[in-house]
Amino acid sequence: MFVVESYNGTKEENYELVLKQLTALIEGEKNVIANLANASALLNQFLSEINWVGFYVKDGDELVLGPFQGLPACVRIPIGKGVCGTAAFEKRTVRVADVNEFPGHIACDARSQSEIVVPLIKNDEIIGVLDIDSPIKNRFDEIDQRYLEKFTNILTEYL
Ligand code: SME
Repeated sequence: MFVVESYNGTKEENYELVLKQLTALIEGEKNVIANLANASALLNQFLSEINWVGFYVKDGDELVLGPFQGLPACVRIPIGKGVCGTAAFEKRTVRVADVNEFPGHIACDARSQSEIVVPLIKNDEIIGVLDIDSPIKNRFDEIDQRYLEKFTNILTEYL
């Protein structure tokens, strides 16, 4: 169903390809679990030097674990707590170069050293977050942020 193409362009070109692949994977499908599952698998095969990628979805005043790739993780995170809860509360991307320096960081996988969390916003409402962890410090830059925000914008159109 899905052919993994080689990502041999610039960082931006490779991300552009991933955005096209995301659209191809989810257009025509409205099931939230299926779309989040494929989105996490797509990012997992594309991104290097990561140890966790997946989603938390809003459930009342908490975030609850959704489809992901990586080790089993914390199931519930209060909105406002940790990196995920902060991104959800502030409705903005939070990029953490060194998780040891982020007060309140929730360590689900001891290998995680840096992290990016991008909110999923639909009709101005927070519906969840995309969370990506890396075993190296300072893994995520402005380009990652810009394209991961495009990625979540496409995704939320289909949720
Ligand atoms: N580190 C996150 C918790 C989720 S795990 O990384 C999968 C946080 O502080 O919100």
